[in-house]
Amino acid sequence: MPERIYNFSAGPSTLPEEVLAQAAKDIVNFNNKGMGLIEMSHRSKDFIAVADEAEANLRELMKIPANYKVLFLQGGASTQFAMIPMNLLGPGKIATYLNTGVWAKKAIKEAKLFGNIKVAYSSEESTFNHVPKDGDYSVDPASEYLYFVTNNTIYGTQFAAMPKFEKMLISDMSSDILSREFDITPFGLVYAGAQKNMGPAGVTVVIIREDLLCRTPANVPTMFQYKTHADNGSMFNTPPCFSIYVMGLVLKWLKKLGGIAAMEKINREKAAILYNAIDATDFYRGHAQPGSRSQMNITFNLPTPELEAQFIKEATALGMDGLKGHRSVGGCRASIYNAFPKAGVEALVAFMQEFERKNG
Ligand SMILES: Cc1ncc(COP(=O)(O)O)c(C=O)c1O
Repeated sequence: MPERIYNFSAGPSTLPEEVLAQAAKDIVNFNNKGMGLIEMSHRSKDFIAVADEAEANLRELMKIPANYKVLFLQGGASTQFAMIPMNLLGPGKIATYLNTGVWAKKAIKEAKLFGNIKVAYSSEESTFNHVPKDGDYSVDPASEYLYFVTNNTIYGTQFAAMPKFEKMLISDMSSDILSREFDITPFGLVYAGAQKNMGPAGVTVVIIREDLLCRTPANVPTMFQYKTHADNGSMFNTPPCFSIYVMGLVLKWLKKLGGIAAMEKINREKAAILYNAIDATDFYRGHAQPGSRSQMNITFNLPTPELEAQFIKEATALGMDGLKGHRSVGGCRASIYNAFPKAGVEALVAFMQEFERKNG
């Protein structure tokens, strides 16, 4: 392996080195077949075994009950903004959404094409610096579901506890899936693009309760019906083979590490190191309110935009890449997903202290 830098990118993002090394080999020659993984038919025995193993490991890691289907889809997480209401709403049907950032807003916009959407809460006026607590909003009891984004990648906020709605929850977990344990049974559907905690871009994992597959209105095109993909083992058409395969390697890596509980412990440690550094001084100011802080994306500001630019430039020169905040909020953002090493967080904190000493 050539020397690697610390990659704080929000996604696509850093992957475990051993996964990359294995994928690099298998892309040329998989299972000694004399051809690479991405050259093989998706209907070959070898690839079907890859997809089956990835699904089995995901089920085991996330404790997914048998009455949920696991789908490997394409179109990115963004396609789910429309696919969810297309399948689960219809004229006159109601759903409630929590507006905690750009990704929630985009989902709301699409959902309005298919149903009567109530936005029960919005933190937009405070630049989405927090997520609501139970009691800050009420869900229309006629709603088919309550939709929220567990982790708001851009602002660095995260629901510490999942919201409640007895009918069912639906969640975009693109930037914190596999990072902490949660009970999936109150959820009708959860989904995540792979490119943060699971693998390369290209596959979107959708986990959907089986009984919901029959709700789709008859005029939904075949490719956009969840049932199509559920009935065909996610092989109705050519799946994103390489992404599924690398995701499978990441899932094996996570199992070896001790599963989600062990990962969660490491994630909490990593985030605490960084938040403690931010809280120790007035030079750095966290964007997210303390009760809403994300364990995955840590957003902060320096006293001026000029100092922020200098901070990012110097960090990059030291091999710490991807620290620039999202263009919509500015500042800095350190994305420290599952595969991001603790040593990288410690290196960033050491640099932050040194930078403050020189410029504070
Ligand atoms: C929480 C969240 N949802 C959705 C998306 C959009 O994902 P995609 O680019 O796969 O459509 C992102 C992308 O960063 C995200 O962070």
